[in-house]
This record gives sequence, structure tokens and C-alpha cells, in this order.
Amino acid sequence: MTTHSMRSHYCGQVNASHVGQAVTVAGWVHRRRDHGGVIFLDLRDREGLLQVVANPSSPAFAEAERVRSEYVLVATGTVRPRPAGTVNPKLASGEVELVASSLTVLNASETPPFHHDEDASEDLRLRWRFLDLRREEMMQRLRLRHCVTQTLREFLDKAGFVDIETPMLTRTTPEGARDYIVPSRTHPGKFFALPQSPQLFKQLLMMSGLDRYYQIARCFRDEDLRADRQPEFTQLDIETSFMSEDDICNVMEALIRDLFRKILDVDLPDPLPRMTWAEAVERFGIDRPDLRIPLELVEVADLMRGVEFKVFADPAADPDGRVAALKVPGGGTLSRKEIDDYTAFVARYGAKGLAYIKVNDPAKGRDGLQSPILKFMPDATVAGLISRLSLAAGDLVFFGADKRRVVNDSLAALRVKVGHDRGLVAEGWRPLWVVDFPGFEWDPQEKRWAALHHPFTAPKVASPEELEADPGKALSRAYDMVLNGTEIGGGSIRIHTEAMQSAVFRVLGLSPEEAESKFGFLLRAMRYGCPPHGGLAFGLDRLVMLMSGAQSIRDVIAFPKTQSASCLMTDAPGEVSAQQLKETGIRIRSAEGKPAA
Ligand code: AMO
Ligand code: AMP
Repeated sequence: MTTHSMRSHYCGQVNASHVGQAVTVAGWVHRRRDHGGVIFLDLRDREGLLQVVANPSSPAFAEAERVRSEYVLVATGTVRPRPAGTVNPKLASGEVELVASSLTVLNASETPPFHHDEDASEDLRLRWRFLDLRREEMMQRLRLRHCVTQTLREFLDKAGFVDIETPMLTRTTPEGARDYIVPSRTHPGKFFALPQSPQLFKQLLMMSGLDRYYQIARCFRDEDLRADRQPEFTQLDIETSFMSEDDICNVMEALIRDLFRKILDVDLPDPLPRMTWAEAVERFGIDRPDLRIPLELVEVADLMRGVEFKVFADPAADPDGRVAALKVPGGGTLSRKEIDDYTAFVARYGAKGLAYIKVNDPAKGRDGLQSPILKFMPDATVAGLISRLSLAAGDLVFFGADKRRVVNDSLAALRVKVGHDRGLVAEGWRPLWVVDFPGFEWDPQEKRWAALHHPFTAPKVASPEELEADPGKALSRAYDMVLNGTEIGGGSIRIHTEAMQSAVFRVLGLSPEEAESKFGFLLRAMRYGCPPHGGLAFGLDRLVMLMSGAQSIRDVIAFPKTQSASCLMTDAPGEVSAQQLKETGIRIRSAEGKPAA
């Protein structure tokens, strides 16, 4: 029963218990059928459909005659059981119908550009998002998202976390993407940056003594977009003081276990398994392995060192190279065409080829194998492969040989693709923590160190001197939560002394002046009683995407952006007036770099 509304009931909530009652419902005409004099309307609201019947004798009939799809109306009548044989078990209200005594059209609708049941293109759906969201599937996802945030908030509230808002108009908060910038009118020539995350503010809240913070926070990142990335997305952002990595991971996984139990009735493992970054990359080629897929990369560089095939021998001898095998059990049935397609697939990741061996009968050694590259391999190599990979009749082995990064990227993607193509993906949920990340990565192009997480993550070293002596050796106190191949959250213990923070800025190539101008407020705060602290942020959109089974995070965001970071419905980004440009001291140059006319 709803109160203070035109309706007495939601359409989808009327059922056999209301038979004989007078009810008033309001909603949209989902479908209208004219059955020789009697008009049937499927009336829809957010809770579902209700069949409304308008008999020719009823005053409702004239209105029912003129309604079309998506007209908005309010109908009053009496609930009765549907006649035998017309019950619709697919509808919650399928046992009953409403015999209308009155029916009022509240608003008409033009013919919508696409119908509910239609497979409309995503562009069309995004342009007409308000119509797209009328679809039950979309509405369910938004409502699931609401339940998810409610459940997360409840858990955090009970655990003593305080919800605090942090600014949207701020300075750069680096998370590895470009900033979205906002010109200032009151300070012409100066710009705010929208936050890539609340990182620095949540650390400052720990320095203020808040102890446990959370926020469902919007983040802005101007980066290349994919199915699991939006320029504007939402984090469940969390920070704590006086807690170790283990303490934090334990609370965070309890939070996620509670969520899955309450929303999906799924019991995730307790504790969540942990894997080092090095192991993940060695076995899966990637730091967010999808553990539902039973395929693994196996290192074979040592077996290939002496072979006469330069494609393998060179990377095998290169400390920065990798030669790895990916065994596909039963893959011997793959056709030449399928193998060629996989070769084209790995080329996208920079692989120059995709060597393979088919296994007919491993007991026969070399003669039991089939491959164009076999002739380059000495017997010892062949025997080594058979035993290390436990080859069995019918298997196929793919090989990647190149720089470490190329082999990892291409075989990691191939593993997932083959896993899906061959139906090897197990049902269910396989979460894990990935820990012991390297702190810094050498960027050969820029010739400098870059932070793998963000520059505020504590390195696993005893002193700033130890860090600066060999930044490449320092692991970081960071942890990522990975679920079915998606990174759903990441965090770390933070640096809490100015000496270490300054050392990290030096490693990253920031001059003391740059460090002061960008992060002076943080360095200063560290001088006034900064507690040890750490936290994590979950990607809320990704979490809801996985939980709802959606293929893209766009499907769990009410008004998302396209791959090129625009909004098709509002046509944002748009132009601004000459006055606005003048006030913010901005002159637009044309794409060629000449002043615009
Ligand atoms: P990080 O950059 O790893 O860490 O982000 C945390 C989580 O946010 C999600 N995420 C995204 N989701 C959608 N679109 C994007 N463009 C996008 N980028 C990231 C991911 C990711 O795991 N301040 C740190 C957290 C911390 O250290 O506490 C941070 O932002 O699921
Ligand atoms: P080629 O000698 O170039 O004809 O290559 C012989 C086989 O090795 C083919 O199956 C190629 O796809 C494969 N191959 C070539 N380069 C690589 C590489 N970098 N990694 C793995 N396989 C490769």
C-alpha cells in the first residue's frame, strides 16, 4: 500500500490477495490489445505489469480506445481472477486483472524510437536513455545498485566508519590518468582539477584523527575508455588509521563477503586467497587473473636457450625476455583457421607470431608431436616440454616468445579468450587478493620511474635511503582485490613521514619546488602528528556490473558516457558562450592550432 500518491498499489504488486478489492494504479501503457470489443492494456510501473481490462460498457472504454504505447494513465477498478486458461505465470500479477471502472490519460506519448523488446543499438539507447531505463532489465540493475550501496553503508556504519564528503573542485590528485580541468573565473588563467580519487583528502582526514572514513565518491579520469572504464565513475572509498595491511584486508573482505551473502546469497571464501604479484604474472601473465579459467602459462625459457630458432632462443637469453607455453587440453581439435585467428588476436597485443605444437601421442616423443617448429628443437628440449607440460594426446600448446611484457599481455589475453571459446570458464565467483606489487616501474620512453599504484603508497623498505638506492627492488605495501578477472578494488598502506614521501617524489623525478607546489599541503600535514594509515577503494560500478551479470559498466550507470567520453543524450561536452570564455580568460584555438574565427 502506498500513501500520498495517486495510486493505491503498484501495478506489479497487485496479486490474488487483492481479488475483490478496489485499487487505483498508475503507469505506462506497455501494450494495448483490442480483442473484439474488449480492450486489454498491460499497464507498467517500476514494480511490473498489470493487465487492465476495459469493457465497452465501462466509462473507461473511450479512454482505452485512444491510448497508445507509453501513454501515462491512472486506472481505478476491481481486481478479479483471470479467466481459466489466461493465467500468465511469468507475471507476478499474472493470476489477476483489473476491471477498469475509470481510466484517465495523464499524458500522451509520441511513438518511441525503439520498443522495449527490441535489441536497439547502444547509441540509440544512450541517446534515449530515459526510455532505455524503462526496460525492466535496466531498472533492476539500478535498483540492485541501490541495494548494494545500502548494504555497504550499513556494514561500514556498524564498523565505525564515518561518511565524509571531499571536494570536487580541487588540485590534481594523481592516479595515473589525465585530469579533467575546470577554469576559474575568480582567478583567470587558473584551473581546478576534478579529483581522480579522494586520495589526498582521505589521508588528511586520518591526519585530523577521524580514524575510519568512507565515501561513495565520484572520480574523474581522462583516460582511454573500455567496457570496464568510465571517465566519471564511483568508488567506495575507504581509509583507516592504526591498521596493518592484514587488518585492512580482513575488514574489506568481510565487507565484500557480507555484500555477496546479503545480495546474491553467495558465500565467498573465508579468508580470501592471497597471491603475490610475481606469482600472478608468472602463472597468468597478468595481475588480475580470472581464476575461473583452468589454463596457466608455463615458463620454458630454460628449455629454449640453445634451440636453433632465433625467435625463441633470443628472448630465452634476454633477461628482459620471456618464453612461455600455454597448454590447451583437447586443443588438438583446433582447425588451422582457428589457430590463424588466435595468431591475429595475439598480434593486437604486439605478438609477432603464435607458435604451437599439436600432441598426438606423447609416448612416442618427437614423432608423437606435430609442429612446424619441431625441427628446430633438440631431443632434450622436446622431452623437457613433454614432461614439464604433462602433455597428453589431443593437447595443443601455444608459445609466446618476446619481451616479457609482450608475452604476458598476449598470452594473458589468449588464455581468457581460449577459456571462453572452449567453454572452460567455471561457474561462480573466484575472488583473490593480489599483494606484493612492485612499487615502481621504469618507463623506458620517458626514462624515469613511475609509481605502479600512486605516489602515496608506502614502499616495503626500512628507510628512504634504501628506497633511493634501488627503486626497482622495492615492493609496495599495496593490495588489489580481484574478482573473476576484474580488479574491483585496490589500496595500500600509505607513507606517513615527510622524509619517505619526499624520497618517493625524488624517485619519480619531481623537483623539490614541484613537490612543494603540488603537494606542499600533504608534506606539511605529515610534520604535525600524522598517524600510520592506509585504505582502499572499490570500483562500485565494476562491482555492480559483475553482480548483475552486465557486460559493461555503462549498463549499471544511469547516465553513462560513450567510449569517446561524450553524453549522447545531453550532447555534452558542449560549447560555452563567448562571455563565459572571456570571464575565464580563455581563447579557443582551432584544431590546427590557429585562433578560431
Ligand atoms: P585505483 O586507481 O586502483 O585506486 O582505483 C580503485 C578502483 O576504482 C575502479 N576504477 C574504475 N572504475 C571505472 N572506471 C574507471 N576509469 C576506473 N578507474 C578505477 C577500479 C579500481 O580497483 N586512491 C586509490 C585507492 C586507494 O589507494 O585507497 C585509487 O583510486 O575497480
Ligand atoms: P616463422 O619462422 O616466422 O614462420 O614462425 C614459425 C612459427 O613461430 C609460426 O607459427 C609463428 O606464428 C611462430 N612465431 C613467430 N614469432 C613468434 C613469437 N614471437 N612468439 C611465438 N611464436 C612466434
